[in-house]
Amino acid sequence: MTRQTQFDVDGNVVIVGGASGIGLAVAHLAAHTAKTVSILDLHEERPESLASLPDASYSSADVLDDRRLADCFATIAERGPIDRVFVSAGITLPKTIAEVSASDAQRCLMINLMGSINTLSALLPHLSSDASVVLTASVAAHTGGGFVGGSVYGASKAGVVGLTRGAARELAPRGVRVNCVAPGATYTGMVGDDPAVVDRLTSGTLLGRLASPDDIANGVLYLWSPAGSYLTGTTLNINGGSHLG
Ligand SMILES: NC(=O)c1ccc[n+]([C@@H]2O[C@H](COP(=O)([O-])OP(=O)(O)OC[C@H]3O[C@@H](n4cnc5c(N)ncnc54)[C@H](O)[C@@H]3O)[C@@H](O)[C@H]2O)c1
Repeated sequence: MTRQTQFDVDGNVVIVGGASGIGLAVAHLAAHTAKTVSILDLHEERPESLASLPDASYSSADVLDDRRLADCFATIAERGPIDRVFVSAGITLPKTIAEVSASDAQRCLMINLMGSINTLSALLPHLSSDASVVLTASVAAHTGGGFVGGSVYGASKAGVVGLTRGAARELAPRGVRVNCVAPGATYTGMVGDDPAVVDRLTSGTLLGRLASPDDIANGVLYLWSPAGSYLTGTTLNINGGSHLG
């Protein structure tokens, strides 16, 4: 017999950018208790990474394509209103302002910030009356970038923190909560496995290790769950002490 806890998530769950890394970890945790799990990502075909999630549906969507997002959410909502959303889709840009081209900067800002705006906008008609949406910022929103992401990446993620606050204010009258997680360096393809990079990032933490994708996913589940029901507009810093404050 399974026992429900205050931290369990039920209802219809959507993960945008869920084919790898942190989004995939959230999908695995959600799959234990959610009614449905729907994953959106860039890959045209259902990716191999989702083989261990046979019950999760997959749709190909780019967060820059607002019409495609609207179509996907309308299809998902045919099974009922959308209750829990995690927007993980994002890219890093490990370049200084001196190095970065205008087109690279624009792409990073568009995917990380405009992608979150597009997702929120397309979701609006389909959210349930107690929906919880979690966006993804970064420790770089506070530090202004650093080793993995540069200034433009930091700016894109600082934008997500502001967007979270504004969306929380706008959607509270509907009963919808909006929060974000701000991960520190997390062991995913985004960080890679270059030992020199991993050592340098690890030495910047107080806990002496990088985050696992599950460390961040646990925070997302908390923000989604009944245990987090009094949280909105907040940024949950999960960074092993790599930035305090
Ligand atoms: N890994 C870290 O150290 C770290 C730290 C702080 C914040 N983050 C943030 O966490 C989020 C997840 O990153 P991750 O580490 O799991 O990396 P990841 O590369 O494993 O996952 C990102 C996912 O987003 C998808 N994606 C990228 N562009 C997209 C687009 N235009 N439309 C739809 N999907 C798109 C990718 O296909 C991929 O599946 C990102 O927003 C990232 O900026 C990561």
